[in-house]
Amino acid sequence: MASSSSSSTVVQDSSFEWLVDPKELVHLLLPSALGIGETGDDEARVCVVGCGRSRLGHALRDQCGYRWISSFDNDANVVADMRARYGKDDPRMTWIQADITQPFAPKGSFDLCVDKGTLDAVLCAKEAATDLICQVHRVLAERGVYVIVSLHPETFLKPLLSIPGIGFELKCSTIPCLSGGSPRTACVLRKKDGSQAPRNIILKHQLAVMNKHFQQDAPLLTPSRRVAIYEAFGGDVLSLAEAHRRVFTDDERTEYSLDDFCADVNSRIAAEGKMSFQDALEFLEQNQ
Ligand SMILES: C[S@@+](CC[C@H](N)C(=O)[O-])C[C@H]1O[C@@H](n2cnc3c(N)ncnc32)[C@H](O)[C@@H]1O
Repeated sequence: MASSSSSSTVVQDSSFEWLVDPKELVHLLLPSALGIGETGDDEARVCVVGCGRSRLGHALRDQCGYRWISSFDNDANVVADMRARYGKDDPRMTWIQADITQPFAPKGSFDLCVDKGTLDAVLCAKEAATDLICQVHRVLAERGVYVIVSLHPETFLKPLLSIPGIGFELKCSTIPCLSGGSPRTACVLRKKDGSQAPRNIILKHQLAVMNKHFQQDAPLLTPSRRVAIYEAFGGDVLSLAEAHRRVFTDDERTEYSLDDFCADVNSRIAAEGKMSFQDALEFLEQNQ
C-alpha cells in the first residue's frame, strides 16, 4: 500500500487536528508573515473554512494576535460542540454552521481565510473544490490572503491553484510535520483584484489538473499497491467500513470519508454491502 503516514493528531482536550498541529503553522500565519497589518492588529477579520474540532482558531488568536475569528463548518454536531466548549469565552470568536461551497458570508468580508485539510476533503467531490475556491475569493477583501494547508504535493497544488482568470498570486512551501507523518504543503494565495473568470472556466481548468494528477502522475492503483491490497484482504470478504480502512491510507481517508466511499460503491460492485479483493480492484480501476 502507498504511504501510511498518519494524517491526524488527537490532542488531549478532545480537540482533533488534521494534517498538522496549529502551533506548527504559527510562523506562517503571523500577520507580519502574510503582510496583514502589524502583529497584534486587532482589526483583521479572519475566517477558518472547515474548522472541524481543531484549535486553529485559538492559535490564530493566542499565538498570531488576530482577534476577530469566524470558524465555519457544515457539520452541525461539530459546530454545536465547539460553541458549547468555547462559545462563551470570547465574543469575537464565533462558530457558524454553513456550507463553504455556497455563499457563506458577504463579499469582501475577510482579510484572511485559513483552510487546513478542507480543500483536501472537498477534492473528492470534484466540483466542490472549484466552488470552495470561488467562494473564498468572493469573501476575501482585496489583497486578502487564503492559506491552504494540504497533504498534496506542490507539484499538484501549484497547477491546480494557478487558475487562469482568477486574481490570485500564489506561493507554496513545504511544512515538515513535527508530530509525525509526511511533509505538508502550505499555499498562500493573495487576492490581486476582484476579477474572477466564469465558474465553468475554473472548473474546466481544475478537472484537467485533477485528471492528469490522479490518472497519470499519481495513480491510485500501482502494481505494489495491488499486492498490498491483496495481502490486506487476505482472501476475506469485508464490510465496507473494514474495506475502506484497509484499502485507503490515513491520508486518503482524510480526503475520502467512509460515507463518500459507501455512496460511490454501487450495488453491482459490492453486493450486500460487502467487498472482496476483486471488488476493491474493480472499484479503484473505475475511480482513479
Ligand atoms: C479534514 S477536516 C479538517 C478539519 C480542521 N480544519 C482540522 O484541521 O482539523 C475537513 C472539515 O471540513 C468540513 N467540511 C467539508 N466540506 C464542507 C463544506 N462543504 N462546508 C463546510 N465545511 C465542510 C468537514 O466537516 C470537516 O470538519
